[in-house]
Amino acid sequence: MDKKFRVGIVGCGGISNAHIPVLMAMDNIEIRAVCDLRPQRAQAAAQRTGAEICPDFDSLIAREDIDVVHVLTPHYLHAPMAIAALKAGKNVLTEKPMAIDTQAAREMIRVSRQCNARLGVIFQNRYNPASKKLKELVASGVGGKFLGARASVCWHREKPYYVESGWRGFMTTEGGGTLINQSIHTLDLLTYIAGQPIVRVRGHVSTDRMEDVIDVETACHALAEYADGTSCVFHVTNDYVIDAPIQLEMTCEKKRWQIVGDKLYDVTDGYQLILDGAAPTVGDKAYWGAGHAAELADYYDCLATGRHFMLEDEAAYPALNLVKAVQESSRTGDWVALDDIKEI
Ligand SMILES: NC(=O)c1ccc[n+]([C@@H]2O[C@H](COP(=O)([O-])OP(=O)(O)OC[C@H]3O[C@@H](n4cnc5c(N)ncnc54)[C@H](O)[C@@H]3O)[C@@H](O)[C@H]2O)c1
Repeated sequence: MDKKFRVGIVGCGGISNAHIPVLMAMDNIEIRAVCDLRPQRAQAAAQRTGAEICPDFDSLIAREDIDVVHVLTPHYLHAPMAIAALKAGKNVLTEKPMAIDTQAAREMIRVSRQCNARLGVIFQNRYNPASKKLKELVASGVGGKFLGARASVCWHREKPYYVESGWRGFMTTEGGGTLINQSIHTLDLLTYIAGQPIVRVRGHVSTDRMEDVIDVETACHALAEYADGTSCVFHVTNDYVIDAPIQLEMTCEKKRWQIVGDKLYDVTDGYQLILDGAAPTVGDKAYWGAGHAAELADYYDCLATGRHFMLEDEAAYPALNLVKAVQESSRTGDWVALDDIKEI
């Protein structure tokens, strides 16, 4: 890949440790500028990368020597920052979720389509070997007709995780709890691997612990319907005792497959290992997966070649749409239809 890209990073917190080493290992990338409200974090990132520190986001996107902006800030800033950067002519790669509500996400998509710059969203688990293989198996028809799916994300978060961030734990800044932060990757895979959209959902969310410090859900269970009338169920929580391996199962007439963490099994008749996708991890935490390296390589290759990016514009919208629809369903106690992304 010959084309060089000059990168600016906004937000030098936890997830920057999954972006920076990958970018630094890429031949065609130069990190030119970083910024963070917390000066020590900006300084640490600048020292590590050799980039300049920008005093704020506006000055970062005003620079002419930046081609791509990585948005690694709290959820409520993704949409306004992505929109401002796109309007300034910068390509954008934002961390998940796209936004804290569907209205803001739709505006991002509209702006991206109108601008001469490209918007990508991080959902790195799509690049996991187990996800890729399972998608291939379902699409191949080898298991016969698709019948439905289930997923379970049982993780653990304590008060300091919310309180110390200054933004997690509140609807206005995080947009939800386990659904929009931890489980959104798996909700994305439920649609992506099944190869069809979810059209409606009925679910229940609850704040089962820490109501004194947070106003977002710590748990959710839901039933959702795919476009072909088949269904999936999911149960997600931040109230378990550890971060257990995520489980995702696809059931077809003749075959049943299950992802457990990095491993993919054929569970039609007992557990038969198909592949173990465990790989060296980028960043601090094994459960983030190694997908950042694969997704960033793909994103920059798409920018260099003009190829379509798998997570461009509306591609990350269905998972956010599902999160918001479940929250709404819990409020009303009824089924909620998801928007048709064709109408954005
Ligand atoms: N893909 C994944 O698996 C994964 C894992 C962890 C986090 N994330 C996502 O990454 C994003 C950031 O999460 P984190 O854990 O790094 O959070 P964090 O709180 O550790 O870091 C966010 C940083 O943004 C900075 N910031 C806030 N407002 C700013 C502003 N106006 N200008 C400049 N900097 C500003 C904060 O000072 C902080 O350092 C979130 O969207 C989160 O969901 C993704």
